[in-house]
Amino acid sequence: MTAKMIDGTAIAASIQEELTAEVAQLKEQHGIVPGLATVLVGENPASQTYVKMKRKRCAEVGIHSVGHELPADATQEQVEALVRELNADPAIHGILVQLPLPGHLDEEAVLNAISLNKDVDGFHPVNIGRLAMKGREALFAPCTPAGCIELLDRIGVEIRGKEAVVLGRSNIVGLPVSMLLLKRDATVTICHSRSKDLPAICRRADILVAAVGRAEMVKADWVQPGAVVIDVGINRVDDPAAKRGYRLVGDVAFEEVKEVAGWLTPVPGGVGPMTIAMLLQNTVKGAKRAAGLL
Ligand code: GUN
Repeated sequence: MTAKMIDGTAIAASIQEELTAEVAQLKEQHGIVPGLATVLVGENPASQTYVKMKRKRCAEVGIHSVGHELPADATQEQVEALVRELNADPAIHGILVQLPLPGHLDEEAVLNAISLNKDVDGFHPVNIGRLAMKGREALFAPCTPAGCIELLDRIGVEIRGKEAVVLGRSNIVGLPVSMLLLKRDATVTICHSRSKDLPAICRRADILVAAVGRAEMVKADWVQPGAVVIDVGINRVDDPAAKRGYRLVGDVAFEEVKEVAGWLTPVPGGVGPMTIAMLLQNTVKGAKRAAGLL
């Protein structure tokens, strides 16, 4: 059996198309232009690339974006002062502080300073708390986890009642995607580096989300035949034959798992493009909410 590919690039492109129309309509009918502020502290090359890509996509759909860059030695007070300034700016509907922050900064305090109504990354402790609680809704769901759920919805996979296994417990992906799956009535198991017999746990999954950051860790015999496998990993592995000297692989051993899974996301081109699509969607949501349209 060969898995069907989940084409995140194509799905993200259609979401972007829908958003472009919505942004045009917001401007025409209400004079509103959604605004996103990005905050980048230091010079982490991967973070620079991500922020650049996010701002490029904003421009494509008609979202106004403003980039703020602070030096690697910026103080806690400088970062929080910038966040407070952006909280007060009515042209800004979303604030994205790119993570990770340099080690001397208190990430939790920075995220706490972001206005709940502008927390388009969904990382504010109150948003995460609401995500975790029954009967409560976060104002914004974190982008990568929301992108995973959107992929499942758009390929028509029912989540309710399914066995979902999440490999990884990070604040950015593993934990919040588990909470979103639970909210959608999946039976959720979270496993991690200290779990006993990871292959056996993963084999239980109807829906397997791999988010551990270990190149090609999930092998074919970890996957139940026909399972839906969502690979969130983006890992660099040395490849002298590649132009840059490396290639990107996921947390799933793609070539062997595609012979077992029912559905599988490629890396790149699976979850990655969805993260930005969800950020754009959250920013438009923030603008509509600020204008009383939601
Ligand atoms: N670092 C890795 N992923 C993300 C993300 O989705 N948002 C932010 N702000 N930082 C990240």
